[in-house]
Amino acid sequence: MRIGVYPGSFDPFTIGHLDVLKSAVGLFDVIYVAVLNNSAKHPVFSVEERQEMIIKAVSEEHLENVRCGVFDGLLVDYAASVGASYIIRGIRTTTDFEYEFQINALNRHLSESIRTVCFMASPGHSFLSSSNVKEIGQYGGSIEGLVPQCNEYFIRERLARQ
Ligand code: PNS
Repeated sequence: MRIGVYPGSFDPFTIGHLDVLKSAVGLFDVIYVAVLNNSAKHPVFSVEERQEMIIKAVSEEHLENVRCGVFDGLLVDYAASVGASYIIRGIRTTTDFEYEFQINALNRHLSESIRTVCFMASPGHSFLSSSNVKEIGQYGGSIEGLVPQCNEYFIRERLARQ
């Protein structure tokens, strides 16, 4: 079985994240979207909210072989716990590449068998990040087309109350 883990803060899950997931889905038997539970990052959305939004988006897209989990601690330990040998990541810019390059080396140091597979973001998503979505939403701007439509109302209402 080819099992992958797609980790991130997903605060919130964007259409850029969904695009990476859709690119990866055919290459793996199972993908675990793994939400980082790290309060030190001061997420806007609770880990339950983030997980719920991902499950909704995945279900709308009929991505049958995708599961959603939560982890804290080391990513390689979570990957081992679900039997995954691959980490899936998206790259938008050369800055992302530098970061992924370093994290890959550290993860390989921690677990020799783990491999990272990176997908290039679609050109239309190269500007998109969860932080941008939060900033736009908090100032009352439109987040239409930036997050999965099924989560747009919830995210907009939540950010407006920040
Ligand atoms: O998309 P993000 O929010 O930048 O994701 C970062 C993430 C979750 C992939 C990274 O912070 C992570 O793997 N954290 C878990 C801690 C860990 O394993 N660290 C070892 C590598 S430094």
